[in-house]
Amino acid sequence: MSRTIRVDLGGRAYDIRIGRGVKTELTVPAGRRIAALIVSDTNVDPLYGPPWEARLRERGFDVVRAAVPAGESSKDLAVVADLCGRAADAGVDRSGMVVALGGGVVGDLGGFVAAVFLRGIRLVQAPTSLLAMVDSSVGGKTAVNLRQGKNLVGAFHQPAEVVADLDALRTLPRREFVSGLAEVVKHGVIRDRGFFERLEQRAADVTGRDPELLEELVARNCEIKAAVVATDERESDVRAILNFGHTLGHAFESVAGYGALLHGEAVSLGMSFAGRLSVRERGFGAADCERMDRLLRAMGLPVRPREAGIDLSWGDLRRAMAADKKGRDRLPRFVLIDDLGAAAHGCTVSEPLLAGTFAAWAAAR
Ligand SMILES: NC(=O)c1ccc[n+]([C@@H]2O[C@H](COP(=O)([O-])OP(=O)(O)OC[C@H]3O[C@@H](n4cnc5c(N)ncnc54)[C@H](O)[C@@H]3O)[C@@H](O)[C@H]2O)c1
Repeated sequence: MSRTIRVDLGGRAYDIRIGRGVKTELTVPAGRRIAALIVSDTNVDPLYGPPWEARLRERGFDVVRAAVPAGESSKDLAVVADLCGRAADAGVDRSGMVVALGGGVVGDLGGFVAAVFLRGIRLVQAPTSLLAMVDSSVGGKTAVNLRQGKNLVGAFHQPAEVVADLDALRTLPRREFVSGLAEVVKHGVIRDRGFFERLEQRAADVTGRDPELLEELVARNCEIKAAVVATDERESDVRAILNFGHTLGHAFESVAGYGALLHGEAVSLGMSFAGRLSVRERGFGAADCERMDRLLRAMGLPVRPREAGIDLSWGDLRRAMAADKKGRDRLPRFVLIDDLGAAAHGCTVSEPLLAGTFAAWAAAR
């Protein structure tokens, strides 16, 4: 079985195709030559590069594959320059395309190359990690990092198609799979109480990668993200709710050093903290806040710094939050929860409350 979800963006609308063994349906019109650059990484390319190349050749494309070193350090402008050079050498012209085949790193990097090469060419997102399937491949955000911070150079560039082949999740390392579940829980907490409850009921099957459940789960996440993005493509308003858990989460990532914590692990910590802030600031039920922590733990995610094996000072984290690109006047903005399924964005919190909540949260069991 497979499912298709439409991201409704007028002239830039596109389909997300989800299922086991789903493949691209793009094709080259008779009499044309179209070159495609498949951007992947050194873990994913050996596994899925050859079948993608074969499929595109079958459908009339000229294909070149480029594999960057796996990991966040490839989200770098020097790598962008190298990939653009490879696209030029391969004869990719304005009718050509980039296929971003991999996790969120490759999606952000390949997406950015597609956004800037020849001022923008067609992009296919072919996510292979859970995080990329449920989150980063949808919505058009692409970016690379600077020494000064994460995702500081980027562009909005919507794909022409998203192809999420669930079979790829079989080879995803367990820690990476669990990390992706943080964004899954996030989508339930901010938008869909029923989905949150379904995750509670089926937690063991989710972590066991039950194939039917995975299809349902990826599809529901894409629906939630697609609906938010269709309302506010450029994050001038409601799209910001997708950043739940990311204010402190990004600070954890940057202070711990990229790679020490996976993105989803940092977001899980950030959600747990923001949940506590929500109890104090927005009347979010303390029992529901506990439920969120329980669900994150059931997925295998940390909800206290010690569970992630880290011990970072509030001062360092607070400074990192001040540098976050989403803050204004160095004041961090939080997404807070009013109720399971209902979130508010752009919230600021007084310094004593922030510091006090952090101390109590970090010390709690
Ligand atoms: N653009 C967005 O909207 C958005 C949203 C969330 C996160 N992100 C970005 O996504 C990135 C994190 O993505 P990620 O967690 O997917 O990390 P990742 O791309 O580094 O992938 C995680 C690891 O799993 C490997 N891998 C991926 N798929 C595999 C498969 N099927 N089999 C075996 N190994 C596989 C990769 O090689 C890598 O080692 C971050 O850079 C983050 O900023 C972007």
